[in-house]
Amino acid sequence: MRTIIAIDGPAASGKSTVAHELAARLFYAHVNSGAFYRAFTWWVLRAKADPTSVEEAAAVLERTKLSSRFEGNEGILLLDDVDPTPHVRDDAVTHAVSFIARMLPVREALTTHLRSLAEERDLVMEGRDIGSFVFPDTPYKFYIDASPEVRRARRQAQGHHDEIATRDRIDSSRAYAPLTIAEDAHMIDSTHLTIDGVVGEVIGLLKLLGLSMPAR
Ligand code: DC
Repeated sequence: MRTIIAIDGPAASGKSTVAHELAARLFYAHVNSGAFYRAFTWWVLRAKADPTSVEEAAAVLERTKLSSRFEGNEGILLLDDVDPTPHVRDDAVTHAVSFIARMLPVREALTTHLRSLAEERDLVMEGRDIGSFVFPDTPYKFYIDASPEVRRARRQAQGHHDEIATRDRIDSSRAYAPLTIAEDAHMIDSTHLTIDGVVGEVIGLLKLLGLSMPAR
């Protein structure tokens, strides 16, 4: 088992940019677990199954070969060997992903694949339940938040039409592995911070926690 840095937080909190930058600075691989949920959502939509029906989604899951691997520095999920990356940000996927992400069979299958990536590489993994559920034993857990206004503005600046408040509500209230703040996570409010500021804070805390840094 390698070193895992868990970065959790709500939609548009800045965690993806921070996780990406942190992975680059530490020479770790980067895994965006939200992209795994988006990938499977795209696959369900592509199969013309109903993304709100657990029976239909489970039937798609059953007949699909899932595999996870690294493409360069990025952990990805393949579906019957198809790379879903070009489609994971589609509006239809964004709209349906919270429904798919609350289904127990989907969460179990994807959690297994997320965990398997840690057998090969040191990871910065971002998501909603990474510190609380996927890797509860890692000592390196961060929860990044920002005010709803700033999160909405960041999403719009990226050109996405995203009902983040609705998604947050569904993600936080679902029965299995909801968006929660792990008790031992370090909270960072990014509302008034730049990305560099957040990354600097995370690196400072990692040093205090005793993580060895790559030589410059
Ligand atoms: O990070 P994101 O917005 O791309 O995530 C897409 C969706 O996936 C989000 O609505 C919640 C879900 N998700 C999850 O349930 N668990 C994770 N570890 C990561 C994402």
